[in-house]
Amino acid sequence: MKKKIALITGASGGLGREFVALMINEPLDEIWCVARNIQKSDGLKEQYGDKIVPLSFDLSKQESIVSIKERIEAEQPRIAYLINNAGIGEFLGSSFTVMSIETTHEIIQLNCNAVASLCSICIPTCVNLRGKQASERIRTLTFL
Ligand SMILES: NC(=O)c1ccc[n+]([C@@H]2O[C@H](COP(=O)([O-])OP(=O)(O)OC[C@H]3O[C@@H](n4cnc5c(N)ncnc54)[C@H](OP(=O)(O)O)[C@@H]3O)[C@@H](O)[C@H]2O)c1
Repeated sequence: MKKKIALITGASGGLGREFVALMINEPLDEIWCVARNIQKSDGLKEQYGDKIVPLSFDLSKQESIVSIKERIEAEQPRIAYLINNAGIGEFLGSSFTVMSIETTHEIIQLNCNAVASLCSICIPTCVNLRGKQASERIRTLTFL
């Protein structure tokens, strides 16, 4: 029997941490928690136990997406929830024209490309908790 999981990006802080707190009571085998800082993610494991699987990836890097894809292909979990939470709202707080091209690209990679890629990778494996196909269990919080 395949394990049932939630995949939450930006799980180690802010709203992402609140999503972990919500998911912990769902009938899931594991909660895959993606963020860059592994120490913060390890703190989640200490708080919530072995259901938490910390994954240290920078989603603004294409190689991180490839690694997550490979892990999903290797473990073939049934993804009950995908929560695209990691994102930067910097465009709202500072002028677009003073931002470096590198920062602009990093934000687009994180807020747009990573979200689209994870949807593409995860939707085929998405099931609801009764095992039916359920792509409505995807939430995206990032925005430009
Ligand atoms: N807070 C608001 O008022 C608000 C309003 C509307 C929408 N949003 C959106 O909601 C989402 C969460 O907001 P928040 O305020 O909770 O954010 P936050 O407190 O800054 O937390 C961001 C989370 O994302 C992770 N993260 C950041 N960059 C990452 C990257 N490149 N790769 C992987 N993980 C990354 C962070 O961990 P690491 O630093 O360890 O990577 C952290 O766990 C964001 O997409 C934001 O744009 C927020």
